Amino acid sequence: MILLNERLKAVAQLVPKNAKVIDVGCDHAYLSIYLKQHHIATKVVASDNKEGPLREAQKNIKREKVDVETLLADGVSKIPDDIDTVVVSGMGGGNIIGMFKYTPEKLKNVKTLVLSPNNDLIRVRKEISKLGFYIEDETLVKYKNIIYVVMKWQRGKRRIRKKECIYGPILAKKKGPLFQEYLSSSIKQKELLLKVLPKKYWLRRIQIQHEIKMLKDILK
Ligand SMILES: C[S@@+](CC[C@H](N)C(=O)[O-])C[C@H]1O[C@@H](n2cnc3c(N)ncnc32)[C@H](O)[C@@H]1O
Repeated sequence: MILLNERLKAVAQLVPKNAKVIDVGCDHAYLSIYLKQHHIATKVVASDNKEGPLREAQKNIKREKVDVETLLADGVSKIPDDIDTVVVSGMGGGNIIGMFKYTPEKLKNVKTLVLSPNNDLIRVRKEISKLGFYIEDETLVKYKNIIYVVMKWQRGKRRIRKKECIYGPILAKKKGPLFQEYLSSSIKQKELLLKVLPKKYWLRRIQIQHEIKMLKDILK
């Protein structure tokens, strides 16, 4: 049985029961294997855009004797028709947005996205909501002293307000045990960025100041 770290466990927890999953950027395929071994998913495709990680994935799948397919592909470019859930974790937000934004038709049969970007969360929330998905659930998980956000998106139109993109609509409602710490560390990161960002980037500086204010308001 594969053992997952706390971060990947939090991702697995947001995958719907009986889902047909593509794990984009599977790397070692630990998450893919876990989803099958724990009967969370009925079908899993472990996909990566590089041969090295995919070979490692195939080795682990063989060792664990699970029925997980592998696919060499960029993003969701070769997503099989019967897949209803896309999981992407441990990648930059810009990369995640890019793989959906320019080929939204690839998501036509997809009902759920489980995303855990390493950064750029505000932009991810804004851009994914434009594709006709809304955030149904969000969790925070602390792993190796870093707090990660995991988001579960469902197909459907619901308005997300600008400020909700900053702090996460469900995170703010749930106010779980890591929420205060998450807000404080986000504020600290943005304040550090402001210190080093040259004055000529005045527009970005104004945006960051606004984001800090929103985060401080919700922290009160
Ligand atoms: C840091 S690992 C994350 C692995 C795993 N998903 C996790 O959360 O631990 C990122 C993986 O994504 C793959 N990757 C990066 N960009 C990709 C893309 N556009 N399409 C598919 N795979 C990609 C990399 O090759 C790498 O194996």
